[in-house]
Amino acid sequence: MSDDDKTKLTRPRPVRESISEMVEIVLPNDANPLNALLGGRLMHWIDLAGAMAAHRHSRTYVVTASIDHMDFLVPVRVGDFVVLRSSVNRVFHTSMEVGVKVWVENYRSQQNRHVSSAYLTFVAIDAAGNRMAVPPVIPQTEDEKRRYDGAARRREIRRAESARRKEVRS
Ligand SMILES: CC(C)(COP(=O)(O)OP(=O)(O)OC[C@H]1O[C@@H](n2cnc3c(N)ncnc32)[C@H](O)[C@@H]1OP(=O)(O)O)[C@@H](O)C(=O)NCCC(=O)NCCS
Repeated sequence: MSDDDKTKLTRPRPVRESISEMVEIVLPNDANPLNALLGGRLMHWIDLAGAMAAHRHSRTYVVTASIDHMDFLVPVRVGDFVVLRSSVNRVFHTSMEVGVKVWVENYRSQQNRHVSSAYLTFVAIDAAGNRMAVPPVIPQTEDEKRRYDGAARRREIRRAESARRKEVRS
């Protein structure tokens, strides 16, 4: 790889370069016997939408290290569209926090409702599975700056929780 290519890979990138959108139609196989979307299926889509933003920002392979607490606010029915938007909130060293927001779109009533929001942490790795440093992300809009600041607070909470769980296990 040339020095020029290396510089391109490690240069800081604005949040907008990671923004990703994914849309799914809820089919019977995604639902419970009452035709409501399974929570596990939505979590799978959230993981994929989050990974897209992480890949776009880091331009390498990533693994999901954690998914924060999630609420499912409204039911989603067979035939609805599920819209997932994701972007990188903040980069630490080898890890990055990605936010995913999910809406349900009912095209008959033209109604959009907020279903869930999630914060995921992805760790960048190379093809051999070694962790890699991730280029910084540059927040530019007010919302991006708010999410960037929030990500540092959430990382502290995650670390404290993780330390507490380790203590309980030992
Ligand atoms: C995630 C993983 C790479 C972390 O490896 P590790 O040896 O614990 O690494 P470290 O403790 O050195 O942490 C590396 C980074 O991950 C972050 N991290 C580790 N565990 C984390 C967790 N539970 N939540 C959030 N971030 C976490 C650390 O904060 C650190 O970030 P930084 O480099 O930006 O400061 C490792 O646990 C792993 O491979 N897990 C399996 C991932 C996977 O397969 N996911 C798919 C679902 S099965």
